[in-house]
Amino acid sequence: MSLDKRNSINNILEENRIFHPSKNFADNSNIRSFEQYHSLKKQALKNPAHFWESFAKSEIDWFEPFETVLDSENAPFFKWFKEGKLNITYNCIDRHIKNGLGKKTALIWEGEPGDSRKFTYNELLKEVCKTANALKEIGVKKGDLVCIYMPMIPEAMFAMLACARIGAPHSVVFGGFSSEALKDRLIDGSAKFVITADGGFRKDKVIELKNAVDAAIENGASKIVEKVIVVQRTKKNISMLKNRDYWWHEIVKNQKDWCEPEIMNSEDRLFILYTSGSTGKPKGVVHTTGGYNLWSHLTFKWIFDIKIDDIYWCTADVGWITGHSYIVYGPLSNGATTIMYEGVPRPSNLGAFWEIIQKYKVSIFYTAPTAIRSFMKSGREIPDKYDLDSLRLLGTVGEPINPEAWMWYRDVIGKNKCPIVDTWWQTETGGVMISPLPGAIATKPGSATFPLPGIEVEVVDKNGKKVKENEGGFLIIKKPWPGMMRTIHGNSERYIKSYWEHISFQGEKNVYFAGDGARIDKDGYIWIMGRVDDVISVSGHRLGTMEIESALVSHESVAEAAVVGKKDDLKGEAIVAFVSLEKDVKTSLELAERLKKHVVSEIGIIARPEKIIISDSLPKTRSGKIMRRILRSIAAGERITGDISTLEDSSVLEKLKESS
Ligand code: WTA
Repeated sequence: MSLDKRNSINNILEENRIFHPSKNFADNSNIRSFEQYHSLKKQALKNPAHFWESFAKSEIDWFEPFETVLDSENAPFFKWFKEGKLNITYNCIDRHIKNGLGKKTALIWEGEPGDSRKFTYNELLKEVCKTANALKEIGVKKGDLVCIYMPMIPEAMFAMLACARIGAPHSVVFGGFSSEALKDRLIDGSAKFVITADGGFRKDKVIELKNAVDAAIENGASKIVEKVIVVQRTKKNISMLKNRDYWWHEIVKNQKDWCEPEIMNSEDRLFILYTSGSTGKPKGVVHTTGGYNLWSHLTFKWIFDIKIDDIYWCTADVGWITGHSYIVYGPLSNGATTIMYEGVPRPSNLGAFWEIIQKYKVSIFYTAPTAIRSFMKSGREIPDKYDLDSLRLLGTVGEPINPEAWMWYRDVIGKNKCPIVDTWWQTETGGVMISPLPGAIATKPGSATFPLPGIEVEVVDKNGKKVKENEGGFLIIKKPWPGMMRTIHGNSERYIKSYWEHISFQGEKNVYFAGDGARIDKDGYIWIMGRVDDVISVSGHRLGTMEIESALVSHESVAEAAVVGKKDDLKGEAIVAFVSLEKDVKTSLELAERLKKHVVSEIGIIARPEKIIISDSLPKTRSGKIMRRILRSIAAGERITGDISTLEDSSVLEKLKESS
């Protein structure tokens, strides 16, 4: 881990613009002043156990109460609300029906080809119960891992909730991942069951999900996967294997529409979600029931200031944590109306997002900086054609948002009346950690502002010493929080190594290292500066350089590969791969293209290198370590600065510059 990736950190442009919540917005918010925010923060600091206990009791329905708020005995394997019993689907559905909200719309779904569907809370309960009963029929038992590999269709939500209903943890794999990546995740989690679709629509193309499942099973997961349920979405021809594959519409249709919610322990697993780290294969981040329920619920309520008649839309995919926490669990636990959109904007329909906002009168909109930057590029004439007056709050997530994009978002989409919540968090944190509370905190474009009440962060150097004002350092979280990951599936050692051993703060060892760099300005505002480890963020998607390197090296022509990120105006970062070839393999443009394709088939389209630079050798230290710092400079077209005396063969540099 090093900060040299961000060597511009000390040349900071001071951002002086500040935007206060309007009086009208603040007066109508749940948390309506800085004083109120501060008082919550103080309460949490003074007596964290009492703070979390009171929210866990007031916000979540428990079948049996908890006695211990936080068990730190086996830290960093923390346990929250450990004796408590609950079912998250009860909190997401049943309790709203009991409170008279059965007829309220829970889900609005907008399909890519223009079809749409709506489900009330009553209808959602039926769909979830029927799906849960179908899962039981094919043999899914409490504790079995179910992999969900689906397009953005309502059945993806039903499947997640059905798993939770019967106590089977889910492992959602983003539909854009290749069959290879799917296979790795099936094997790592030992998922006996898969829920998928015949295919999905994405940007005028059909993604063949069931074929990918078949290939994953054939190529290594055949001893693991027992049954597959397939939703019919594209009606393309696929093969169905007798006694292994079941059509969703056949197996779900005749089920009873009631399924008793399984009584879960607070620390029972709710899901695994794979994410990239700086070393090795993707890690299966484990989240458990009680703490995650509280954190996704509470953060949603605080940050989106949710009201009974809000129409809320998060544009993420359920294959990522943002979809888990802020399309499914957070909104539903709050009884909100949540929108799910199957498509993504594409050149032939750049107004797609604005059309949906206009059509459903969306009041809260949550998207990624990369989307905002691409809208900016195609001009304000497009959004200006739509009526966006229903919007009252805007959010962003996934990567740092540059101040110009923030200002554009505020002006062109929010008409200068909507607060913007720039939310910083990670798969591992379960829910948002740093974000403005829209009625309480004045925002600065590009800053995620302050940690939420109960969350204590610091920016420190590698020795755990607090850095000076505006100086870049490592972002750490000092205290455990309910939504935190519990471990890495099957690898508790890696859990400790990746997150808890990097930094000790004031002698305290159990300090969570997020992997991000940050600085804090004179007013205490936090500015996230991006990853400080070997994780690249491409359009907000996390990719480990190591994963991409392994994919490249698995190609017969490649001897060695080193992958770095390069700043990209649209995507945040783009992937640049440096590759040396096996003996006797000739370099060519065509080979570079083949290697790109190979990465796509190994991982998925999101990992496609933008550029592949083929060279005789890579710059290494005398001890044989690839000097990525140098490769980053070459990729960026920058002058190589810093010490190169440890370089084994400096002539490599000239050759590399020539080939790039
Ligand atoms: C980055 C996505 C700056 C960060 C929820 C983090 C951000 C990684 C922001 C986690 C933000 C997320 N500002 N950077 N508002 N939000 N990040 O696990 O580098 O897919 O560590 O979770 O995204 O990515 P993940």
